[in-house]
Amino acid sequence: MIIEDGKEFCFYCEEIKKADEVLGKEAKSAHRLMTLNRMFNNDSLINERLKNCNFGNYEHVSEELAKAKAICQRYAEHFTKSNPVNLMMIGNYGTGKSHLAVSILKRVIERGLEQKNPWTGVFISTPKLMTKLKATYHKKSKHSEDELLEQLGSVDLLILDDVGTDYKKKQSEAEEEEANQWATLKLFEVIDSRIGKHTVYTTNFNHVQLMDMYGEQKFSRMVEGAHSIKMNGENYRLRAFK
Ligand SMILES: Nc1ncnc2c1ncn2[C@@H]1O[C@H](COP(=O)(O)OP(=O)(O)O)[C@@H](O)[C@H]1O
Ligand SMILES: [Mg+2]
Repeated sequence: MIIEDGKEFCFYCEEIKKADEVLGKEAKSAHRLMTLNRMFNNDSLINERLKNCNFGNYEHVSEELAKAKAICQRYAEHFTKSNPVNLMMIGNYGTGKSHLAVSILKRVIERGLEQKNPWTGVFISTPKLMTKLKATYHKKSKHSEDELLEQLGSVDLLILDDVGTDYKKKQSEAEEEEANQWATLKLFEVIDSRIGKHTVYTTNFNHVQLMDMYGEQKFSRMVEGAHSIKMNGENYRLRAFK
């Protein structure tokens, strides 16, 4: 024991306190991960077709798509919490937007494991997100809507796949109009909660169509500061039929 400025200073006590702090932080981080996994388990959210996707098995099919892959790869390799960047992958069906989005998630999670507090990431399609949020309104739901929204707002990387597909076209029917309003409200609650964090969007709709769905003001909030990646080309799923 050392007496410093009249106060007792126990070296071992300080060491124990520090160790406790580290353990406390680790426990908190583990708990955060467990809660996140319980609510949003990527294994169950990423469909079977996309489970094995990575940058390595994304084939070169065109210059435009190779460029898209290079941007996504650079994004994943440069991902840091302190420099949030949003991506918006826009293009027709079957060009590998979800493939590259899953690849980003996997690489970021892998790199995040080297961090003191592993990075967290969720991949979810917007229709699935809406289903999950709706399910919380059920009496027997294990989680509240607020808990889900809080998790979505706090993950280090959120991938919102297929933005716009939750939006129903037939707006003449009052019921669908209401459903659209609700879905838009929820989507933007999530988007707004992610200011200062990384969000990656994929969509089959172009800017004009998205603006039409969500309105100019909301749409501009979604794309503000986002790096847009064009991914047009042949539908990869149909290549065997050519
Ligand atoms: N360039 C590519 N190389 C390898 N597989 C691809 C490529 N592009 C698409 N795919 C595969 O084709 C299927 C459709 O791609 P997907 O990412 O779902 O397209 P999108 O999200 O653009 O509609 C997936 O199984 C994906 O792995
Ligand atoms: Mg897709």
